[in-house]
Amino acid sequence: MKKFNNKILNGDSIELFKEIPDNSIDITFADPPFNLKKKYNGYKDSLEFGEYLEWCELWIKEMVRVTKPTGSIFIHNIPKWLTYYSSILNKYATFRHWISWDAPSSPMGKSLQPSHYGILYYVKDIKQTKFYELRYPHKRCRKCGYLLKDYGGKKNMLHPFGPLLSDVWTDIHRIKHNKYRDEHPCQLPIHLLERLILMSTDESDLVLDPFMGTGTTAIAAKRLGRNYIGLELDNKYVSIANDKLKYERSNSKLGEYWVSFFLKDIISLRNVDWEGLSEYYILPQNNRAIDHTKIEFIDKKKILKHFEFVINGNGKTKQDTMQLEFCNCP
Ligand SMILES: C[S@@+](CC[C@H](N)C(=O)[O-])C[C@H]1O[C@@H](n2cnc3c(N)ncnc32)[C@H](O)[C@@H]1O
Repeated sequence: MKKFNNKILNGDSIELFKEIPDNSIDITFADPPFNLKKKYNGYKDSLEFGEYLEWCELWIKEMVRVTKPTGSIFIHNIPKWLTYYSSILNKYATFRHWISWDAPSSPMGKSLQPSHYGILYYVKDIKQTKFYELRYPHKRCRKCGYLLKDYGGKKNMLHPFGPLLSDVWTDIHRIKHNKYRDEHPCQLPIHLLERLILMSTDESDLVLDPFMGTGTTAIAAKRLGRNYIGLELDNKYVSIANDKLKYERSNSKLGEYWVSFFLKDIISLRNVDWEGLSEYYILPQNNRAIDHTKIEFIDKKKILKHFEFVINGNGKTKQDTMQLEFCNCP
């Protein structure tokens, strides 16, 4: 099994899955072709309805088979396909969450504007599953710095860093600008994968992605000190991914704590790590100050330099910019 660790295998995932033993992977994550006629390099994204779903059942069953009893299964897609995936997954695994990822997608004609993707979160055995609560930074107005959410009389109880993560994610944006993406029609942001990995794995665990594209899951796993196996049909995408991975390091850490970093902030951290991580921040005397002031690192220059290296050190993996949000401040 070790022979596949930290490799992206080129081929059809249904065939390649046969090489992977039962119960051997800590988490499986899939971002399959959506059957929306996307322009991939080699793959034709337009199967007949029933044919697409039959094919999906094959790889979904394989994901469940290879996942350990302590493990989790994540599948990203548009809501339409996830409703079918759920009815397949309900036969083989246990539902945990439908994560709604707030990210606009293409208009579909006479319909509500699609504004979220879903990530199905299933587990193999609910009693044994690994799960870590995460926190993300408070959302603030980019101009005046005040919290966007009104906590009313509960400001004294605010967590200095930010709230516990819910099943609705509004703080991670799709890669919008072409200059930040590879030659691939649907590359995911790295910190989306980092969030899932921090939530469900420990250091050195093994993450498998049967539709690796240009390597997002592998990069996230490597940065967080996890191992990965990727499967990908298109040789060109495998080569782009490997090219980027050569320069990645397992160093997305603050002290001994693995964190997900984006632009100038930690974007996901584990609640259990907060006590240790809080030592890196200047914390306010009065918790009410959190309402208008974001906590800052004690040694901001050094920490930002470290994470700039984590994110941009290789110069190959591009990052998108943050969407700006404002309140009604003058
Ligand atoms: C939605 S994209 C995944 C993008 C990826 N998450 C990323 O961020 O780069 C789906 C990928 O599945 C690959 N693919 C399609 N059919 C496949 C198959 N039968 N086996 C393995 N990979 C396949 C396509 O080439 C494409 O790169």
